[in-house]
Amino acid sequence: MPRSHHLTRLGLAAVALAGALVVAGCEADQFALPPVGASNPIAPTPPVTPPAPAPTPATPIAYTQDIKPILGSDCVRCHPDMATYTGALGWVSLGAPVSPIVNATQPGGTMHQRLSGDRIAKAELIRSWVFDFDAQENR
Ligand code: HEC
Repeated sequence: MPRSHHLTRLGLAAVALAGALVVAGCEADQFALPPVGASNPIAPTPPVTPPAPAPTPATPIAYTQDIKPILGSDCVRCHPDMATYTGALGWVSLGAPVSPIVNATQPGGTMHQRLSGDRIAKAELIRSWVFDFDAQENR
């Protein structure tokens, strides 16, 4: 069989395949709902709604209920002042972009390894307490 014949058959196969894809595409379009209020069925899709900002946790975080137990089990033996709310506040810089207690407990922070159990979750709780809840005492 001459080489050109091969190529022609290949070409025909490609055309047939492309045709099948086009037909499949048309069939799929028939099942797609037209955009609301649009008369042109190939009108561009409406812009995607941007994702909402991360919501503030539903349950407020407070020193007495959430933070004191963590500091009590993991920190107070070396930082006795963290056993009271006033003492713990000494490690918080309210309103500042950084706070010593947050810096130290985040992954990579000097005290992160002092956290027992789920360090990531505890570090996040401390961070959220300071930045999302102004280091409040009770909820
Ligand atoms: C075994 C003793 C020990 C434990 C437990 C401990 N710390 Fe410390 N911490 C220290 C010492 C010593 C320093 C000062 C020297 C240093 O930074 O390593 C310090 C310093 C700090 C500082 C000052 C900033 C810094 O990075 O130096 C913060 C904030 C802090 N600790 C928070 C905590 C918290 C929160 C916990 C509990 C998760 C904790 N520490 C547990 C001994 C401890």
